[in-house]
Amino acid sequence: MAHRPASGPGEAGQDLGAIPPRPGAGPVTPRARRGNDPPPLSDPSVPMSSHAHPVPVASRPGAPLRGRLRVPGDKSISHRSLILGLLAIGETRIEGLLEGDDVLRTAAACRALGAGIEREGEGRWRVRGAGIGGLGQPADVLDFGNAGTGSRLMMGVAGSHPIRATFDGDASLRKRPMRRILDPLARMGTTVVSEAEGGRVPLTLLGPRETVPIAYETPAASAQIKSAVLLAGLNAPGVTTVIEREATRDHTERMLRHFGARVEVEAHGADGRRIALHGQPTLRGSEVIVPSDPSSAAFPIVAALLVPGSDVVVEGVMMNPLRAGLITTLLEMGAAIERVAEREEGGETVADLRVRASRLAGVDVPAARAPAMIDEYPVLAVAAAFAEGTTRMRGLHELRVKESDRLAAVAAGLAEAGVRHAIEGDDLLVHGDGTAPPGGGTVATHLDHRIAMAFLVMGLAARDGMAVDDGAMIATSFPTFLPLMRGLGAVFSGEGA
Ligand code: S3P
Repeated sequence: MAHRPASGPGEAGQDLGAIPPRPGAGPVTPRARRGNDPPPLSDPSVPMSSHAHPVPVASRPGAPLRGRLRVPGDKSISHRSLILGLLAIGETRIEGLLEGDDVLRTAAACRALGAGIEREGEGRWRVRGAGIGGLGQPADVLDFGNAGTGSRLMMGVAGSHPIRATFDGDASLRKRPMRRILDPLARMGTTVVSEAEGGRVPLTLLGPRETVPIAYETPAASAQIKSAVLLAGLNAPGVTTVIEREATRDHTERMLRHFGARVEVEAHGADGRRIALHGQPTLRGSEVIVPSDPSSAAFPIVAALLVPGSDVVVEGVMMNPLRAGLITTLLEMGAAIERVAEREEGGETVADLRVRASRLAGVDVPAARAPAMIDEYPVLAVAAAFAEGTTRMRGLHELRVKESDRLAAVAAGLAEAGVRHAIEGDDLLVHGDGTAPPGGGTVATHLDHRIAMAFLVMGLAARDGMAVDDGAMIATSFPTFLPLMRGLGAVFSGEGA
């Protein structure tokens, strides 16, 4: 098994790129955490809903949106490319990496665990792997900032190695449930040395000498749970199996194969999958081209539909069917979205999407579609506010455990904009009359990038615009959101604009 020393933070020739001080960061190092003595969530030193320097942003209607743009690399694939680079032998070259704060946190964690990481140019990164079994003990807390995906996937990685690693993040991450990852890892032999109340970060894991392969049915439709178990299974002898009742994004499986692992996937029930990973493969450093992120593309797409007279081309949008639920839904609502040039990029089908302003009609969005558009509901709710009739979005319980309680945050934003809506159980109903809603409110973003972007898109077409209390978190997933949208003609103002 490959073994290499961990690289020190200041090692010459290695440049992670500037990782800026992150808004919303809780204090991660000063508190001594021993045994089962985590800080209570009510600790006044832990910011719970905002950070020291919120930067308000507002948007308002202007001229039609026109032009072409390409959104940055996919966040899910970016995280995975760095992580598999860490676990591979040899060099991985990544093109189109999303250089958002979430992904930079994963890069820093990979480096702390022993990868050599260099940024060669915009979106071009090189990773020298430590190899499965070759991870070093991190010298410091692994601070994941706002990043649920990065932290959860890396728990699978670190928790399956005989090292001790402490995970922490900002006020949003400190509220998110980690038990869903800790439970399967405990079955694989990981010890949870300490955790904050309710199975949250900050938490410390100690991996076993030998990780136990398991068969695990995920309790929620979650690619993060699936991926954490599969990544832990890489360092277990034998076959680790994950069963999901509803198929979720399959980037981990695809990329594991690309790096040389043996992964068998078969159907399970009507909508599910059974994924079997053969443990302890030798992963080989590979080339990864990251396609652009459909969850980021969602914002200019909906903006172009809502701003009268718009005609926009969003280039190279990944059309993986497990990510394309929003496009399906918008087409059902009557959206003018044309796939202009379909092609392969980095092992995924991508297309240029020509989007023209459209009259939309309310639809019923089935719960079964939720995994394929789980991050797109905030901006779909915005589109629904302009549609004629009621849009019912079913089965949104997982939205309650995202970067914020997104169901509550979206409902509060709709209320601010004067949009009739209701929450019935796990369903969100938005009632539109086919005209622009009043707008004019200020939305609380709760450290959630997608709440910020969704309501800024609304403000581009709502009668009196919209404002968000803090645009800082947009940098976690789509740092170029404001300039790219401005390039189409969007009008923003405020301290954060
Ligand atoms: C992601 C999975 C989803 C999604 C998140 C990215 C991933 O989370 O919301 O933004 O990259 O695996 P869940 O697995 O919790 O649904």
